[in-house]
Amino acid sequence: MPGITVEPTTFSLFGALGDLALRKLFPALYQLDRAGLLHGDTRILALSREGGEPEAHKSRIIQALRTRVPAGELDEPALERFAERLRYLTMDFRRGEDYAALRECVPQDLPLVAYFATPAAVYGDICRFLAASGLAEQARVVLEKPIGHDLESSRVINDAVAEHFPESRIYRIDHYLGKETVQNLIALRFANSLFETQWDQHHVSHVEITVAETVGIEGRWGYFDQAGQLRDMVQNHLLQLLCLIAMDPPSNLTADSIRDEKVKVLKALAPITAESIHQRVVRGQYAAGNVGGVSVPGYLDEENSNAQSSTETFVALRADICNWRWSGVPFYLRTGKRMAQKLSQIVIHFKEPPFYIFAPEQRALISNRLIIRLQPDEGISLQVMTKEQGLDKGMHLRSGPLQLNFSETYKSARIPDAYERLLLEVMQGNQNLFVRRDEIEYAWQWCDQLIDGWSRLGAELKLYPAGSWGPVASIALITRDGRAWYGDL
Ligand code: BG6
Repeated sequence: MPGITVEPTTFSLFGALGDLALRKLFPALYQLDRAGLLHGDTRILALSREGGEPEAHKSRIIQALRTRVPAGELDEPALERFAERLRYLTMDFRRGEDYAALRECVPQDLPLVAYFATPAAVYGDICRFLAASGLAEQARVVLEKPIGHDLESSRVINDAVAEHFPESRIYRIDHYLGKETVQNLIALRFANSLFETQWDQHHVSHVEITVAETVGIEGRWGYFDQAGQLRDMVQNHLLQLLCLIAMDPPSNLTADSIRDEKVKVLKALAPITAESIHQRVVRGQYAAGNVGGVSVPGYLDEENSNAQSSTETFVALRADICNWRWSGVPFYLRTGKRMAQKLSQIVIHFKEPPFYIFAPEQRALISNRLIIRLQPDEGISLQVMTKEQGLDKGMHLRSGPLQLNFSETYKSARIPDAYERLLLEVMQGNQNLFVRRDEIEYAWQWCDQLIDGWSRLGAELKLYPAGSWGPVASIALITRDGRAWYGDL
């Protein structure tokens, strides 16, 4: 691929038979291989506790590829090449002795990527044993979310990793940062001077960020019920999106310049106090309903559920950023499982013109909006006001889109999965798309005060039918400020 140099690497995957590895990581590595983005000498080590025949586990991984990769993108020579790179090793990650076998498989002169697709509680042990077996010097470690469940527990994990690895070799994943359209936010904002002049409290009235999913808990009840939607989605993906929209221009594209600007936004987020929590935050949980014409059970009736659970599967909230650029501009965030549509979208609503010269009854129509569709149907649309055509229309106004649909405009390009980009960046040693320790910690700090407020006040859980846009209270959250969620049907 033009412009990309790939160095030989040893890629070790801890937790290689888990759901994430089989569903996302191996398919991403396969796609990189197929695109010619893995060096001929790159080897992949699949590490897991499961004993038995290594060849049988290898076949299971290849079989997972056959199921997960779209049929048109599976080709036999690429699969064979991939299988040749792949080696399976049984290891108990908490037993130091087991690392000797790993050591044997890792050439000393190549960088080692150690991807932890395991519970975060094991990260410290893996780091300690990598160091003890002399592998730490050449390794970059990749940490999956969630890193802890609050500020304190995330500090414990980060400290344990930091004992053996410098920040420059720690790659914390937030897979939203690997999405093509999320990266495009940087291009949109900082390669077009047009937007920057409008990007502040003088011109923007409010911002909406919606990340809605139609899926439910999909066999992950045990994990999800401990976490809830605030920890699972807001603490990471939604706050990262908010940062990319709200941050000041970085002075260059290096990882630290971008991260410094994101951290400033997180530090400027106003705490949601216990007094304002009822006005500013809505917690919801889905009840039985209908998604895309199919009846689905409620959260409490999912497989392995605990019928008493009061964990939220939906959150809507109003965040405020206390700085010159954004003072007085609410950021409305909402995210939920089992919603009406899979949709990740950011809407920037611009202010009305300062003086209105058209017929007063048309005033409600006025609104310039920039709609950034992250998934599906990736694209950007700018809603502008124009005059209705026709001799009989006078100066009747209407709103219409200036539209850029990525798949129509850039027909040939396949949109890579977020993990493909992230794995490639790790192998290239680029940290831009990974989250620095202070980002995670400020994000936890902000979420912790919210969770604390909930637990002190016994925050009410509002039910919503699966297949809807969330609890009625989430509509009230925004209408209270005289606004509405954009595009809800
Ligand atoms: C993960 C969450 O980080 O993101 C899941 O743990 C969620 O609960 C997923 O379903 C959503 O990712 P995407 O890429 O499908 O929007």
